[in-house]
Amino acid sequence: MAADFFGLVWDALEESEPKIKTEKTLALFDRFKAGEFEDFTKDGIVNVQQKPSYAALCEIARPTEVRRRRKLDTDEGKAVFLHAITHIEYSAIDLGLDACYSFRGLPKEFYFDWLEVAAEECEHFLMLERLLNKVGAKYGDFTVHPSLFEACRKSDTLIKRMAAIPRFLEAGGLDANKKMTAKIAKLKDETAKEILDALSVILRDEIDHVKKGTKWFYYACEKDGVDESRYFEIVESVLPNSTKPKEFVNVEDRLKAGFKCEEIKRLVGKENIPC
Ligand SMILES: [Fe+2]
Ligand SMILES: [Fe+2]
Repeated sequence: MAADFFGLVWDALEESEPKIKTEKTLALFDRFKAGEFEDFTKDGIVNVQQKPSYAALCEIARPTEVRRRRKLDTDEGKAVFLHAITHIEYSAIDLGLDACYSFRGLPKEFYFDWLEVAAEECEHFLMLERLLNKVGAKYGDFTVHPSLFEACRKSDTLIKRMAAIPRFLEAGGLDANKKMTAKIAKLKDETAKEILDALSVILRDEIDHVKKGTKWFYYACEKDGVDESRYFEIVESVLPNSTKPKEFVNVEDRLKAGFKCEEIKRLVGKENIPC
C-alpha cells in the first residue's frame, strides 16, 4: 500500500518537539525524493491546525508584549535577537508543511516545492538553535508571537495563502534580512560572524521560497481566473493594513524572487525606484 503522504505531513506539522519535528520533516522530504509518494488527490477530512505546534514549548504573547532585543554586543541581547529569528524559522517549518497538507489535488511539483521549503526551514532552525545555545539560551526561553500562525489560518484558499504567506510575509523577510545583516556586520565578535554566515544562507534560500510563492500564486490566479495585478488587494484581504509603504525594500533580491518593478514601486510608495 502506498504511504499516506497527507497523514505523515500532518504528523510532522503537529509535532512540537523541535528535534523530532525536524527529523520527521527531513525524513519525509527524503522519502518524497525517493519517489514514495505519487497520489496527492486524497480528499476526505482535512484537519485544520487549531493551535501552533510551538504552543507546547513557548509562552505565546501579543507582538507588542514580545521582548525586544537590547544591545546586540551582549550575549543576552544576541539571545533575544536569535530567539526571535529562531521562532520565525520554527513557524516557517509549519507554514511549508501546512501548504502541503491543506491544499489537495495539486500537481506533484507543488508538494515537492513546499516540502523542500519545510526542509530548508528545518536547516535554518537548527543552525540558529545552535547559535542560540551558544549564547546560553534555548528555544522556548522567551515569549513568542503567533502572527505567522494566524496569517496561515486566515489564508484558507491557495491564492490567498500564496499571496499572503510566501509572497508577502516571507518576502518581507528579504528586506529584514538585509537590515539585520547591516546591524550585525558592525559587531566584530566570533558569534556575530557566525550569525552573519547563517543570515546569508537564509537569504539565499528565502529568495527561492518567495520565488516558489510567485510561481504558485500565478498558478492559482490562472486557475481561478484572477488577474495577477490583484496581488495587493488579496494580501489586504488576509492582512488588513499591511501594504502601507515600507521604509526599506530589498529591491535586488525581490526582483530575483519574481517581483515586478510596478509591485516594488507600490511597496515603497515611490515611482523613482531603479528596477
Ligand atoms: Fe527560513
Ligand atoms: Fe522561508
